[in-house]
Amino acid sequence: MHSGDVNVEYRLLGGTSQRVSEIGLGTWKYKGGAEPLQKGIDLGANLIDTAEMYRTEDAVGAAIKGRRDKVFLATKVSGNHLGYDTVLKAAETSLRLLNDNVIDLYQIHWSNSGVPIHETMRAMEQLVDRGLVRYIGVSNFSVAELKEAQQAMSKYPIVSNQVLYNLKKRDIERDLIPYCAENNITVIAYTPLADGSLTGKSRFLPDIGRSILEGIAQDLGKTSAQVALNWCLSRPNMIVIPKSNSVARTVENCGASGWSLTSDQVATLDEAFPLSA
Ligand SMILES: NC(=O)c1ccc[n+]([C@@H]2O[C@H](COP(=O)([O-])OP(=O)(O)OC[C@H]3O[C@@H](n4cnc5c(N)ncnc54)[C@H](OP(=O)(O)O)[C@@H]3O)[C@@H](O)[C@H]2O)c1
Repeated sequence: MHSGDVNVEYRLLGGTSQRVSEIGLGTWKYKGGAEPLQKGIDLGANLIDTAEMYRTEDAVGAAIKGRRDKVFLATKVSGNHLGYDTVLKAAETSLRLLNDNVIDLYQIHWSNSGVPIHETMRAMEQLVDRGLVRYIGVSNFSVAELKEAQQAMSKYPIVSNQVLYNLKKRDIERDLIPYCAENNITVIAYTPLADGSLTGKSRFLPDIGRSILEGIAQDLGKTSAQVALNWCLSRPNMIVIPKSNSVARTVENCGASGWSLTSDQVATLDEAFPLSA
């Protein structure tokens, strides 16, 4: 795909006026060096997602050097670091590795029932007060955990929940997507390509799903990966964060933005990849 054809669009983060690209750049197991991330940023993909656990914060920091004003930087504190002092320390370590002085979105990577949620959220709010974090998010939180975390906030909202979502894993449609839509919480869909298995080249797709995905892609002059990502974007309040080590596939993934599947195409895909019972 030619990068001149790419037009990455934006959605508002939670109930804020912050614009985030509907295609973000994931970095779990990222080994692409600076170029793929820089290409994505240049195409308008402003959200880069990392985590202390990924050990890619330093690579992200190096890649965004000189482009920081075009980036919305998201990282995460691990679920085993949720005590008050530990959260503060984790954020400082992340900032050092990112070689930066502010995290745009700081997310709790997973919940931990061993630490009272009030304690963790107090630390997250303290980081905003200190100017080290701009927005607070969570990841892998159920609706019940999200409600508890929201109730524990004293002055700032939870703007996002980063969760597993793709054509093959649609469980969050039951309750999390509607809850987030009603409460102005952005859903950041991780593993949106089902770890590459929705790209058309995989053996891990049922034949019927594969032929429908490829057929729609062919009709539109898009790739299967682009259709799989755009299908996620048909959901309310959602953005996706595919990861790629390659410049060409980053351009391809960014090309999943700027157009929409028709409602009939969305319905056909919904039927071909049914929500498991
Ligand atoms: N919060 C959490 O608990 C959590 C959990 C998992 C992931 N995440 C986040 O979500 C991001 C994305 O998820 P993911 O990395 O698990 O899976 P993914 O984005 O669904 O798939 C990544 C895989 O697909 C390949 N790929 C990417 N674009 C492609 C394309 N256009 N055509 C063919 N293959 C393509 C990649 O290979 P190449 O790199 O070789 O292109 C890689 O093997 C992560 O990087 C991370 O930031 C968060």
